[in-house]
Amino acid sequence: MAAAPELTSIKVDHDKIEIVNQLLLPHVTEYVEINSVEDAFDAIKTMKIRGAPAIASLASLSVSQHLIRALRTTPPPDFLSSTSIFQAHIESTLAYLYKSRPTAVNLGAATKRLTKTLHDGIAAGKDVTAIAHDLIKEGQLVADEDVGRNKSMAKWGGEWLIEQVKKDGGSREGLNVLTVCNTGSLATSGYGTALGLITYLHETGKLGKAYFTQTAPYHQGSRLTAYELQTLKIPSVMICDTMVGSLFQYHKIHAVAVGADRIARNGDTANKIGTYNAAVLAARHNIPFIVVAPISTVDLEVSDGSKIPIEHRPSLEACLVRGILYPNDGKAEQAQVMITPTGLEGIYNPSFDVTPAELITAIVTEKGVAVKAEGAKEFDLSPIV
Ligand code: MRU
Repeated sequence: MAAAPELTSIKVDHDKIEIVNQLLLPHVTEYVEINSVEDAFDAIKTMKIRGAPAIASLASLSVSQHLIRALRTTPPPDFLSSTSIFQAHIESTLAYLYKSRPTAVNLGAATKRLTKTLHDGIAAGKDVTAIAHDLIKEGQLVADEDVGRNKSMAKWGGEWLIEQVKKDGGSREGLNVLTVCNTGSLATSGYGTALGLITYLHETGKLGKAYFTQTAPYHQGSRLTAYELQTLKIPSVMICDTMVGSLFQYHKIHAVAVGADRIARNGDTANKIGTYNAAVLAARHNIPFIVVAPISTVDLEVSDGSKIPIEHRPSLEACLVRGILYPNDGKAEQAQVMITPTGLEGIYNPSFDVTPAELITAIVTEKGVAVKAEGAKEFDLSPIV
């Protein structure tokens, strides 16, 4: 089956960076220029761009852009004047970008990677210009590598699921897979992780239907996953977040596939709020629960999920829905609508939850698929990182 056209979260042409404003999708496709690391920080923090790999790509690309532009400025900016000043400048820029969103570790992996490039250049005695060029290249690589690895994890995960269903005596075709949030092209540099697995099943003729939750309060499911699946012409069904149990009771679902923002050393996984609910229900219904994420999402420094920092978003965001108004004159208008009484107090709004390894059947990276040893409650992730 021919591959369908993809949506793009980031467009890059040398030092020109544009992102699609995901707050306005699916009704309005507006590209926003990113012209500084501050622009990148703001776009990530305000969720104009979101999804763990996509934010790491944008942060890295903004550092490359910053350096490309600095190198061609006359007179050169002060921070290019000596190695020590340059080091301090880059380290503080990376620390600043790292603070934009706390849960997705891909951002931390990217900033660590750029810090290493900086330190290696200094240790090798390179001059500031040469180190700046190394950083430009490395920043661009972080974004470029994403698509290839997504295709490989999608294939690993897809083939694993097909085999699993076969072992259980089921048909290897018509597989129905539920996903949460948005993990497609918009959340990555292309193809996607969990949505990549679903796309792979579709491309190989094995998919029945993709089911996805609306994913309140930001509605990454109903706004973004719906749009991606429609663009890719993948048969799909949307459900409200509260309908997962009902779906499992009344429909044959072969797997739940989700992405991840951070995977601890034992396999505990932080992902979009609602993922844990789906995992508990999947366990109750004996449905395989698959986490699909790049190696950069695995944080070996964190022993278990209790140590993963969980971002809490502003309360107001849980009181609003974003969408489009269709007034009587027929002119559509982008709007945010408040669905609570104003001034409501006591709002709980974590952006992510942690699914314990015990509830996860398989973790897939670009290197392969990990399952737990017989009777184990935790993963040994070493073969896939
Ligand atoms: O708050 P978001 O939209 O950035 O959350 C996104 C998710 O939770 C995704 O599942 C995760 O980042 C993986 S994206 C490939």
